[in-house]
Amino acid sequence: MSRPVFQEAVDLIATVAEVTVWPEETPPPYDRLRAEAREADGLFCLLTDRIDESLLDDAPRLRVVSNMAVGYDNVDVNAASRRGIYVGNTPGVLTETTAEFAFALMLAFARRIPQGDRMVREGRWKTWGPMTLLGSDLRHATLGIVGLGRIGQIVAAMARGFEMRVVYCSRTRKPEIETRLGIEYAPTLEALLAQADYVSLHVPLNPETRRLIGEAQFGVMRPNAVLINTARGEVVDQQALVAALESGRLGGAALDVADPEPMAPNDPLLKLDNVLVTPHIASASRATRLKMATMAAQNVVDVLEGRRPTHCVNPEAGGGR
Ligand code: DGY
Repeated sequence: MSRPVFQEAVDLIATVAEVTVWPEETPPPYDRLRAEAREADGLFCLLTDRIDESLLDDAPRLRVVSNMAVGYDNVDVNAASRRGIYVGNTPGVLTETTAEFAFALMLAFARRIPQGDRMVREGRWKTWGPMTLLGSDLRHATLGIVGLGRIGQIVAAMARGFEMRVVYCSRTRKPEIETRLGIEYAPTLEALLAQADYVSLHVPLNPETRRLIGEAQFGVMRPNAVLINTARGEVVDQQALVAALESGRLGGAALDVADPEPMAPNDPLLKLDNVLVTPHIASASRATRLKMATMAAQNVVDVLEGRRPTHCVNPEAGGGR
């Protein structure tokens, strides 16, 4: 296990295997992880661990890589499949928690909550001010949702509760969900960007979505539009984002993810007042992280007991070697 997690998850794996846990709060260096994987039948890892072909090549016993995340862009899944190694993830259990956080970012940005908190702490709250920290209403604003998977759908439902207009784009159109939630389909990403006041990203990171939002896309966004990212930092061209914000082309950004992570304290984004950044915590409610940890542990147990992981991203791996 590549990081300390809930004891429940450790205990679960310990029912079928001897468990070694990397004891630090920061990820094991790649070479250390690789050395540990060399001896292991199963690997419980996190999105901060790079599980590449070379590591897998050097791990002759390995039968399962279980990522404690729904995203698995840190794992070379094709390389794992070719070696008969199952890859597990944790879908479903973090959907609402992550959607709530995307919404929290949007509200915090719109109503200038971080600026208000800073003002009070820094002793700048002198009186009730009729012009103090004026923000924007979400009601009647247009939210563009990029990717209408599990999380995107819950964000859409929440937005409808706030009486926002919701437009989405997605690889496949979803008419039944459009009708049920009262949301509109945009046939292209550009069509969505041209009409949204808030754009919230809910796509997995893969070759098609890497740098999906760059200079050209910022160019068609509405002036004053706000980008919300709880997906992966690499979905956005961060240099282009800085340029769009510095030129005043964009209203702002609220980001729970960055490229790279962690974001350096001197990152140009952190010099801008219209940027809100959190440290990749959208799924970080206690209950959800416990579910993610036990689900990822169960995926390991499944394989070590001779079954396919309950939540498997490469059933074609076929198990074992
Ligand atoms: C995931 O699961 O992919 C998130 O980024 C972390 O919860």
